[in-house]
Amino acid sequence: MKKPTLFIIALFISMLSMSENLFSPDKNFQLNFSINNEGIAQYALVYKTKTVIKTSNLGLELKNDPALIKGFTIQKTEVNTVDESWKPIWGEVKEIRNNYNELLVFLEQKTEKRWMKIRFRLFNDGLGFRYEFEKQPNLNYFRITDEKTQFALTGDHTTFWIPGDYDTNEYTYTTTKLSEVDASKVDGTGIGTHGYFAKNAVQSPLMMKTAEGLYISIFEAALVDYSAMQLLIDQKNFVLTSALVPDAVGTKAYMQTPQHTPWRTVIVSDKATDILASKTILNLNEPSKIADPGFIKPQKMIGIWWGMHVPNTMSWNYSHSPNIKLKDTDWNALTPLPQHGAKTENVKRYIDFAAAHGFAGVLVEGWNVGWEDWAGNWKEEVFDFITPYPDFDIKYLNEYAHSKGVKLIMHHETSASVTNYERRIDKAIDLMKQYGYDAVKTGYVGWIIPRGEHHDGQWMVNHYNRVVEKFANNKIMVDAHEPVRPTGLHRTYPNLLACEAARGNEFNAWSAGNPPEHETILPFTRLMGGPMDYTPGIFEIKMSYYDPKNTNQVHTTLAKQLALYITMYSPLQMAADLPENYEKRMDAFQFIKDVAVDWDDTKYLEAEPGDYMTVARKQKNSDNWFVGGITDENSRIALLPFSFLDEKTWYVATIYADAADADWKANPMAYKISKMLVNSKSILKQKLACGGGFAISLKKAGKDEIKALKKL
Ligand code: NOJ
Ligand code: CA
Repeated sequence: MKKPTLFIIALFISMLSMSENLFSPDKNFQLNFSINNEGIAQYALVYKTKTVIKTSNLGLELKNDPALIKGFTIQKTEVNTVDESWKPIWGEVKEIRNNYNELLVFLEQKTEKRWMKIRFRLFNDGLGFRYEFEKQPNLNYFRITDEKTQFALTGDHTTFWIPGDYDTNEYTYTTTKLSEVDASKVDGTGIGTHGYFAKNAVQSPLMMKTAEGLYISIFEAALVDYSAMQLLIDQKNFVLTSALVPDAVGTKAYMQTPQHTPWRTVIVSDKATDILASKTILNLNEPSKIADPGFIKPQKMIGIWWGMHVPNTMSWNYSHSPNIKLKDTDWNALTPLPQHGAKTENVKRYIDFAAAHGFAGVLVEGWNVGWEDWAGNWKEEVFDFITPYPDFDIKYLNEYAHSKGVKLIMHHETSASVTNYERRIDKAIDLMKQYGYDAVKTGYVGWIIPRGEHHDGQWMVNHYNRVVEKFANNKIMVDAHEPVRPTGLHRTYPNLLACEAARGNEFNAWSAGNPPEHETILPFTRLMGGPMDYTPGIFEIKMSYYDPKNTNQVHTTLAKQLALYITMYSPLQMAADLPENYEKRMDAFQFIKDVAVDWDDTKYLEAEPGDYMTVARKQKNSDNWFVGGITDENSRIALLPFSFLDEKTWYVATIYADAADADWKANPMAYKISKMLVNSKSILKQKLACGGGFAISLKKAGKDEIKALKKL
């Protein structure tokens, strides 16, 4: 009976030891957990002999209770290995491998008679860990005033950052060394609600690159019943510390045991493309809670939408009245504006366009009463979400849409009056069910009501999650604008198709816009947590088209707008421009009609944050592939090997590229479409203009095509 004796000795040693090591399944990562002489829990992370995180402290400060920081001893540890696969309801790949080694550390704080666990999961592309609190006599209810999780970095890394801000993430990115971060220098013009809380604070997901060429992403997964984690930078020692978003009275989180925090994540590779391909955030989220996901349909949509963002085209509001009260207004007595976007004949035109070109959804904004004074007044009773304007025939339009195989997408702009929305949401859902809506776009423009709460605080986090769950129970898909940024919760609630939670294409219509590098950074930052409703597909690039004096413009070429359907992953994609702008360029519009939104496979071929990216995706249940390539303000030549294609098979490649003289500023709408045969041995040399891109659709070639087309 040798084994039990050995086991007891091993257990005894592990109980005495104040340090534990854990390796990733492929042994590339090593985690060290230790307790220092003050009893502070610490961890360190090494990747392929390079230190990524130096010894860093863990712990939390509490209100009116001793901190959960010092005086800990290791009671015991448990290790575990998981290697399984699961199939997402929709996604970038058909199947996801969840493979990690786990270390669970049981800590005791003897002086306080309290216990805390820290659970580490080490994957082949990085680390996740979280704090867990069991039910116990001396830790029932507690309030977190600060989480003190540290990420001690090895140097002054290059970082792609937006300012720490409790209410918005709609910034452009700044690229500097950690020591040079200064949130006070960032211009927030055009963002409804903004304000940095410390000069040295940045938001997560935070993307960094070290001088040695390591790519590091720090973020969180499964943000549930807690506030979002931003990061404070110690600019001398390069230590990041978690900074949670406070509530109206300054508390960061209200806890009741048993409870745990979200996962803190460190994803690392020496290849930038590995960061984009990581599934660790999803793997750290719970499996789908939706038993009957049949109602969830990845889709393309058009909308009564861009017309409100470009100059002189459409309005959300029905009338010009600047002072509306929901209760007292006689809407029929108001004079309708000719440019009201949601008027019945205009919506009908959009339904016809959607039906003619195969779009499943038509978003209609400005359909409901209240838009006359919706923004900026911090007013509670703005919308009721059930009363259509007199010129929006809700019954007729839904019936007409359904008769053509199209569905209207509901819009609930809450104007951030969340109390009002929560009071009225059940009736709003009843209305949706009455007319057969199965998707909603929510919005939270403005300062939150209850006043003093923040978009990214625990109270709002719970609100967004409650709303997604409520819609799931009612078989409704969600696209949330201005929510907290996603943290992989779409695995658990796949009815959450997409979120905004970053600076979308709309900024190009009415502000200084998004610089050409913006779309090369978003996949490394915001998209780490989930799909974005970026609203690509703008063909009429310059706003002078609508108003000769207006100098705003989309900061890309037209071909890059097509590439975004592939590079900016989302199961919900909008053809965002006006139908009449597509009708002028049906040859380029063909790509938007053809492109898929759900995938069996994805290959990130090349990428560098802030510079460029090329990705190939295989359409779900199909042999078709689509490729998107984008660049920043610099032109470049992409070398594209088609090695991902089936061997010994010819494919017809339709290439939508920048014309030779295209340039995002001087000549953005010049594109060239060509067709040729390629196979798995072909390599394409593709030029991208400054601010440009290319999109390719690939279909297996028929005999006639093999005869007729040129081979690459
Ligand atoms: C901001 C959203 O991002 C945009 O898509 C929407 O049209 C307006 N708010 C109005 O809700
Ligand atoms: Ca760049």
